[in-house]
Amino acid sequence: MPYSLKDKHVLIVGGGSDIAAALAGDLLREGAGVTLAGRNAEKTTAAAKAIGDAVRPIALDLSDEESIGAAADQVRAAGGLDHLVSAATERGNAPVRSLERRALLAAFDAKVVGPILLAKHFAPLIAEAGSLLFFSGLAAWRPSPGLVAMAATNGSVSTLASALAVELAPTRVNALSPGVIDTSNWDAVVPDKQKLFQHIAASAPARRVGDPSDVSAAACALLTNPYITGETLHVDGGARWS
Ligand SMILES: NC(=O)c1ccc[n+]([C@@H]2O[C@H](COP(=O)([O-])OP(=O)(O)OC[C@H]3O[C@@H](n4cnc5c(N)ncnc54)[C@H](OP(=O)(O)O)[C@@H]3O)[C@@H](O)[C@H]2O)c1
Repeated sequence: MPYSLKDKHVLIVGGGSDIAAALAGDLLREGAGVTLAGRNAEKTTAAAKAIGDAVRPIALDLSDEESIGAAADQVRAAGGLDHLVSAATERGNAPVRSLERRALLAAFDAKVVGPILLAKHFAPLIAEAGSLLFFSGLAAWRPSPGLVAMAATNGSVSTLASALAVELAPTRVNALSPGVIDTSNWDAVVPDKQKLFQHIAASAPARRVGDPSDVSAAACALLTNPYITGETLHVDGGARWS
């Protein structure tokens, strides 16, 4: 049965995010093995422990190719993997006139350069019928002032998924583009996230913002469906059309 995640091994990069945690939990319940990768060892170990004792933490910094290569060596030694997901992001949000090169490069490292290097080092380790999944986001498809870095990086993710799907075939490569998802990091972005969410929900066709479980369910579909590759799946409650 190709649609099963049972006994598959999935590596999730950017493991500190709520979306990564939701996906890791769902994967465990489906019988998959999960490795969580993050740039901060202590934080990643704590995040893995919070999800379950079976989750293995490893160190991986998307802005450092040596660290990506070392993580790939560890995964190879442990027997390879079936799927790799990168849910990492560095937002780099600022009006373009005050945007700093350093922040812009960090955003591209997390979402574009890092994922390309993940493909370079990990694609050879992916088992038959396996896949890579990268995270895009609504900012690419509904640009807003002040989100130029986010729009450009998320748009690039979609392009790199189709380019890699062609080059790495038959390994599948897809992108997932969430809309506004109720995750804890919003607390640092706006003073009252519930007020913002109500405003967004009022005009969104789904009439609500997303939950990490919405994203996780869509990610599992992309990981398991053997006939989807080079695709960007929008999980935004129709927000692109509102
Ligand atoms: N939440 C939303 O509303 C929303 C909307 C659209 C798209 N998305 C996309 O969905 C994905 C998950 O979102 P989220 O909001 O759950 O993310 P998040 O909470 O901001 O977490 C992002 C993660 O990326 C990690 N990261 C950043 N730079 C890294 C690097 N160089 N190497 C390794 N890890 C790095 C961070 O590590 P540290 O913990 O060390 O900082 C953090 O764990 C992201 O790709 C995001 O763009 C989310």
